[in-house]
Amino acid sequence: MTKILIITGTDTGVGKTITTAALATCYAHAAGGVDAGAALDAAGAAERSGASVAVVKPAQTGVTADEPGDLADIQRLTGLTDLHEGIRLRDPLAPTTAARREGVPLPTVEAHAKFIDHLATTRDTVLVEGAGGLLVGLDEDGRGLAELAAELSTPFAFVVVTRAGLGTLNHTGLTVEALRARDLPIDGLIIGSWPADPDLAEQCNLDDLPVTTGVPVIGRIPAGAGGLDRAAFTAAALGWFV
Ligand SMILES: Nc1ncnc2c1ncn2[C@@H]1O[C@H](COP(=O)(O)OP(=O)(O)OP(=O)(O)O)[C@@H](O)[C@H]1O
Ligand SMILES: [Mg+2]
Repeated sequence: MTKILIITGTDTGVGKTITTAALATCYAHAAGGVDAGAALDAAGAAERSGASVAVVKPAQTGVTADEPGDLADIQRLTGLTDLHEGIRLRDPLAPTTAARREGVPLPTVEAHAKFIDHLATTRDTVLVEGAGGLLVGLDEDGRGLAELAAELSTPFAFVVVTRAGLGTLNHTGLTVEALRARDLPIDGLIIGSWPADPDLAEQCNLDDLPVTTGVPVIGRIPAGAGGLDRAAFTAAALGWFV
């Protein structure tokens, strides 16, 4: 049973935060969960179980101390409050770069992994949102989400948030290949923003992404979902996953 789900993406700005919010809603309304699909199958148990879900953003960049980060978006969309930010850095840059410019030390990926493992002892599911794409450095040695995952003692899997349009076959293929090269498990691909009126490339990519990567598309977040109010977001989120 996947206890920890790690949300990476093919790039920054692909919709990892909204995807994390949608997954958190699904898991909070399911009794644990093996993957997003299983969480949905268990949705009937939703109100009965009230499964516990924590969300971790190991490194948040591009915000000052009093500005809302990704976890504020997740709280706004889901109402969840078990949210944990590792370190916050001012410049909108990769954490390693932002920390160097600010002259502050970064936690090691081992420290992040230890904290996430500890959370997992008392939560049904822990979701971890990366910073930018998979190979972005989280600590001073430039080690990132893949190295963090390798340090976990709790079972985990990755999901990869992707763009819908032209170029996504290459970016998604590269990310999947990098995960496979490190023997890291992948539950599925999630399209971070699926347009109401998909163009030719978007329609074809939906069919081609699983064929070219060997990983199923397990969800599509509709474009505009980030603008929904909490009631509409949480009511609709279950329907965005297969
Ligand atoms: N389905 C969607 N509906 C509405 N807005 C969206 C959707 N997906 C993404 N966006 C918007 O696109 C922008 C980038 O998305 P988001 O912040 O989730 O990216 P990210 O992958 O989490 O990036 P980061 O690496 O900064 O964490 C945000 O302004 C977000 O509101
Ligand atoms: Mg984000």
